[in-house]
Amino acid sequence: MPKITFSKTGTTAEVPVGTSYLEWCQENDAPQDFGCTVGSCGTCTLVIEAGAENVQAVTDEEKETVEMSTDEAGARLGCQMIVNGDITVRPAST
Ligand code: FES
Repeated sequence: MPKITFSKTGTTAEVPVGTSYLEWCQENDAPQDFGCTVGSCGTCTLVIEAGAENVQAVTDEEKETVEMSTDEAGARLGCQMIVNGDITVRPAST
């Protein structure tokens, strides 16, 4: 099963392939903040330190919100991510 690693806390968890990162975090009290949950506020912006290829491709809408939130390359919205393989994430700098 894919493993999510939160590098800030060192927390790791195994999740089924195709898991919604948002739903998993909300159900498991994960160290991740969310706001709107629909991809428009940017609260959940994160950086995938490893395994970026293991989530779905970024959409134009997601890219717009990310660019309003951070300048960090490769940042994603946690609320939009589907986990298909191992990923390591950390909060994006704003
Ligand atoms: S929680 Fe608002 S963009 Fe993800």
